[in-house]
Amino acid sequence: MRLHTVAPDDREKLDRVHRLLDRARAHDHPTAPARSPRELLSLAAAPGPNGETQFTALGDDPVAVAETLFFPGTNSHMAHLRIAVDPEQRHLGHGTALYRSAMKELAAEGRREVIAGVRLPSEAGTAFAEGRGFTVAVVNRARRCDAHGLTDGELREFENPAGSADYEIRAWTGPTPPHDLPLVAALDAAANALIPQGDLTFQAGEADAEALACEEEKLLSTGAGMVQALAVHRPTGEPAAWTRMDLPPDAAHAYQGMTLVAPGHRGHRLGLTVKAAALLRLRASANGVRWIWTSNAEENSPMAAINERLGYRPAGRTAMYRKVL
Ligand SMILES: CC(C)(COP(=O)(O)OP(=O)(O)OC[C@H]1O[C@@H](n2cnc3c(N)ncnc32)[C@H](O)[C@@H]1OP(=O)(O)O)[C@@H](O)C(=O)NCCC(=O)NCCS
Repeated sequence: MRLHTVAPDDREKLDRVHRLLDRARAHDHPTAPARSPRELLSLAAAPGPNGETQFTALGDDPVAVAETLFFPGTNSHMAHLRIAVDPEQRHLGHGTALYRSAMKELAAEGRREVIAGVRLPSEAGTAFAEGRGFTVAVVNRARRCDAHGLTDGELREFENPAGSADYEIRAWTGPTPPHDLPLVAALDAAANALIPQGDLTFQAGEADAEALACEEEKLLSTGAGMVQALAVHRPTGEPAAWTRMDLPPDAAHAYQGMTLVAPGHRGHRLGLTVKAAALLRLRASANGVRWIWTSNAEENSPMAAINERLGYRPAGRTAMYRKVL
């Protein structure tokens, strides 16, 4: 069976990849968000918040697909590999064939650490990962929030914490305004060094406002959307907290991604503030989003508490496995 990398503009092939991934989702995790063909096209065409995605298919009408996320910059030693096999075609060696070829390619490219998520419980996924020398680095808890579960008034209360006079809260959809790009880039670059990540080795990056603007533009050109909120410390002009939500094209779901409060600004409920501000902004823009999904390390109790207050409820656990090449 032919193994091939799917070109980002090959709509027909990406549609077939989509059909297989959706069959696997419906079989393995029926409650997980159903991605549309346009979401896959967007992922293949532009870097998302975490890096670039490549799809590799086994078979012209694929029986198995590898979805590889290449982390950029200081994390280019790592990649995230997801393998999904047609539910009717499992335990026939397809997963192994795809895995071997993907790992060979990743090693040849100089990636030294591969991570893979297994949604729990999964006897096959766990046996597959552990049988190939992967070990659990961290367990993540997924949560789902009804975007309209709280009233505007309830959210506005979270948005106005005590002491907020020192902080200006800005929220927007679409591209980051030019004057805020350096502030967002600084927090975005620092984030990996400041979040609980178990035995994973994500590192802080270099702040690059220009690169961030280009990435946002490219992603938005695919029809995807973005909602962000930033807290700026008025006396110093420093960026104090930031959050980002990603909206795939035409989807009823959004992904709540990174939220970060800079260490010198913790203890003012700014995490809750920026998340509530972003949620209000998302609701104010006509985008049809009903559900918001997020995922955090189980040990990250401060973020879990914020999410619960905003109406996020547990929706599964994923073991993040890691293998050093
Ligand atoms: C995990 C998955 C990729 C395995 O693919 P596959 O083509 O069925 O697996 P293979 O035929 O290559 O089998 C390889 C090994 O996986 C494990 N495995 C596969 N099916 C299994 C099952 N039903 N029960 C227990 N272990 C199983 C075994 O260790 C097997 O080795 P063995 O044949 O020597 O026992 C597939 O079940 C799948 O798509 N699951 C959902 C997504 C997922 O969990 N992906 C893994 C994280 S990237």
